[in-house]
Amino acid sequence: MAGKTIPQIAVLGSINLDIVIQCAHLPTPGETIIAESSREVSGGKGANQAVAAARLGADVSMIARVGNDDAGAGLLRNLQADGINTQAVLGTESADCDKNIASGIAVVMVEQSGENSIVVVPGANGIVSQKDIDHAAAIIQSCDLLLVQLEIPVETVLYACRIARKAGVRVILDPAPAPSAIPEHFFDVDLICPNQSEASALLGWSVETISDAQVATRELIERGAKNAIITMGKQGAVLCNGCEVSIFPPCPVETVDSTAAGDAFAGAIAVRWSEQNSLIEATRFACAAGALAASRAGAQPGMPTRNEVEQLMLQREKLSGAS
Ligand code: RIB
Repeated sequence: MAGKTIPQIAVLGSINLDIVIQCAHLPTPGETIIAESSREVSGGKGANQAVAAARLGADVSMIARVGNDDAGAGLLRNLQADGINTQAVLGTESADCDKNIASGIAVVMVEQSGENSIVVVPGANGIVSQKDIDHAAAIIQSCDLLLVQLEIPVETVLYACRIARKAGVRVILDPAPAPSAIPEHFFDVDLICPNQSEASALLGWSVETISDAQVATRELIERGAKNAIITMGKQGAVLCNGCEVSIFPPCPVETVDSTAAGDAFAGAIAVRWSEQNSLIEATRFACAAGALAASRAGAQPGMPTRNEVEQLMLQREKLSGAS
């Protein structure tokens, strides 16, 4: 990083305690299965993306809420251990909220193939409000990039995006989970980066193949996004930067747990794009970060460092040069 300015990134989003249940296969409706193990790790799409960006070299500020409980205190400590500024992470002690609201919890079931199913109980994430954003406005207005997802109220997210836009700050929206109804100005962002199933939900048709994703990225741009990337899991990713479409093959890694691969991708693209790189270069970097996260267990514990991502990219270059 010598000689480079360090990107200032604000992440607005959720913080969860993940209860990770490892099982042979994901249960089907009505089925009871016996798990192999369970453990608690720090998660939440917002917090995961903040940790990803911090480990990849950015100065990160988190805007969020946790409950006034042991889980909240531990989740906050973990963010701080990664050097993240948590000054705008509020608790539930203020007069205008219910002090009994707990920290967000996610039950994450991971099967042997690395595929997962997640159920989130929002808790304190559900009360992140426009007032909280006003409180953090200076952080948003002075950063290089605002990174948002949708595990907090969507109107709060859109309010923060408006503040960023007015201040000329870039916005990346990871539309996860996809909303059931799409509000006005939803697509009005510099980059939208859904995964395959979120893209299908947003567009109302099934994005299955790389050629579907090529059409879908263009459609996301027609709807208002300046740039669009669809991550396609084992098929790689597709970027449309407004004029041309580029296809990125997957990084060859063994998938252990794909839970936070999308979060690693979003955090990484935020960092690399903010370092004055093209979106094509930033997407290559993000694909490597996402692959590394998928090759490890747990959300935040699995987030790679800058050095690890650069090593994987080098290995890939060597391999493609040799073939
Ligand atoms: O994107 C993965 C995250 O989704 C998990 O960490 C879980 O907390 C849910 O928010």
